[in-house]
Amino acid sequence: MPQKKKFYITTPIYYASGRPHIGHSYTTVLADALARWQRYKGTDVMFLTGLDEHGEKVEEKARLAGMEPQEYVDKINEDYVEVWKKLDISYDRYIRTTDADHMRRVQAIFQRLVDSGDIYPGSYEGLYCTPCEAYWLPSQLDEDGNCPDCHRELRRMSEPSYFFRLSKYQKPLEELFAREDPFLVPSGSAREMINNFLKPGLQDLAVTRSAFDWGVVAPNDPRFVIYVWIDALLNYITAMGYPDKIADMERYWPADIQLVGREIVRFHTLIWPAFLMALDLPVPKKVYAHGWLLFDNVKMSKSLGNVVDPLVLAERYGVDSIRYYLLSEMGFGADGSYTNSDFLQRINTDLVNNLGNLLSRTTAMINKYFDGVLPDVSNAECGSEESEWDLDLRNVGEGLFHQVDTAMAEPRAAAALDYIFTFAARCNKYIDLTEPWVLGRDPARRDRLAVVLRNLGDGLRIIAALLQAFLPRTAAVMAEALGLSAAPEQLSWERVQLWGVWQPAEKITGGVHLFSRLDVDAEIEALNKIYSEQ
Ligand code: ME8
Ligand code: MG
Repeated sequence: MPQKKKFYITTPIYYASGRPHIGHSYTTVLADALARWQRYKGTDVMFLTGLDEHGEKVEEKARLAGMEPQEYVDKINEDYVEVWKKLDISYDRYIRTTDADHMRRVQAIFQRLVDSGDIYPGSYEGLYCTPCEAYWLPSQLDEDGNCPDCHRELRRMSEPSYFFRLSKYQKPLEELFAREDPFLVPSGSAREMINNFLKPGLQDLAVTRSAFDWGVVAPNDPRFVIYVWIDALLNYITAMGYPDKIADMERYWPADIQLVGREIVRFHTLIWPAFLMALDLPVPKKVYAHGWLLFDNVKMSKSLGNVVDPLVLAERYGVDSIRYYLLSEMGFGADGSYTNSDFLQRINTDLVNNLGNLLSRTTAMINKYFDGVLPDVSNAECGSEESEWDLDLRNVGEGLFHQVDTAMAEPRAAAALDYIFTFAARCNKYIDLTEPWVLGRDPARRDRLAVVLRNLGDGLRIIAALLQAFLPRTAAVMAEALGLSAAPEQLSWERVQLWGVWQPAEKITGGVHLFSRLDVDAEIEALNKIYSEQ
């Protein structure tokens, strides 16, 4: 038997330094939609996420909270797991860098690179940003000489350290960035890596720390802990059992796509592939650098304290409202800007007026005119002017899976959703053009009326099928309303490519309500009140 195609997708592992906000939720929801899409197509998916628990920053947070580091990260871990559960995140594996297996594997890998000479002892002096856990070169600082990422003051640090021979991989990395099938998308991000790091020339990287203890101890020299970024990056292979268990590693590595936010591209596209090369492992097929969700035009972040709580929004508006907002708001590699008013308005225009309305109108009419059971109209006669609209709907409906699939491969989830919602708008337009309420008054046109409603039902079937990856709960409610709970195969990847196969297994009842219309002003006030009391 031929093996199923596989798809290995990762999110970064999140810093265990505070509760997750909707900025983090963006990366994870995007990964979830991509994973669900592949599963829908019948692919063997491995979707990995997890928590990055070591480092000075976490140690300090724990101290401020009056806790032991382990106690502190256990608590943060609960917060993350809770939010991912609320957001219907379908990860296959969840790694924590305090897992004993992970730590043992990081040590084994580190030792191997010491033995091969890729890691060597030396001493380090440089400008260090504690919140970002990164050294910066003078040429990389912002206008004020501060950290180019968080704009806070840097500390001059000097310490003995072990180094990774990053410079040795200059040439292979240049080749990686010159590859025809791009390693890093979008291309603007790749140009930045080339101009800012590859062109000036790579320097060896300090991979141990001695100023604090909260980390994986260097196996060859216990005075040191391993740099948190090395510990963290290795999660993508230790989670697959590397180096001591090979089955998953052989099955899933290299990753098909690794999602990262813009500020951590450097780690994932220079240091990470160089490490893999040093281990004689293939590099990931693709890294996708997404933009930031901004809040009042600055990056939403735990350390800046301007967060929006996904749990508050999920409880009040339903998880799919958030998933929809996040997936549709962020263009390819671009930033998105969160405001409560935008979020609430998008619910009204797209989810209530467009999608919800289409479903409720269609099912209500099937209920009203045919008592919930459409007659067979395969031989019905229709006027030519009318069938032009039918043909148009059918053409777009039949091709929709392909448009969505192409967009998801890039990955452009916002474009994929836009195709689906544009098609929903077209279905609504079809109702306006065909005027079923006029047909319903004329007993001689019952066949035509049934054809129109069947077309709409089929359009909705396709929309529900395609939305399963994006808005799983909404898709399930739609399927039920369309009489497909007992006939889920009609939503399958094979049948989403066909038109005219909608065959309800149950009577259509009507009255289904997907999303509630919101009073935007009243909701903004309510949200402000909730946040001010938190
Ligand atoms: O960077 N908008 O963890 P992290 C969009 N532990 N994405 C955002 C965001 C925002 N406002 N805020 C955060 C780390 N993210 C490391 C990763 S991987 C080996 C180690 C995204 O919790 C951010 O861009 O700071 C990143 O991709 C992810 O959340 C984790 O960020
Ligand atoms: Mg960060």
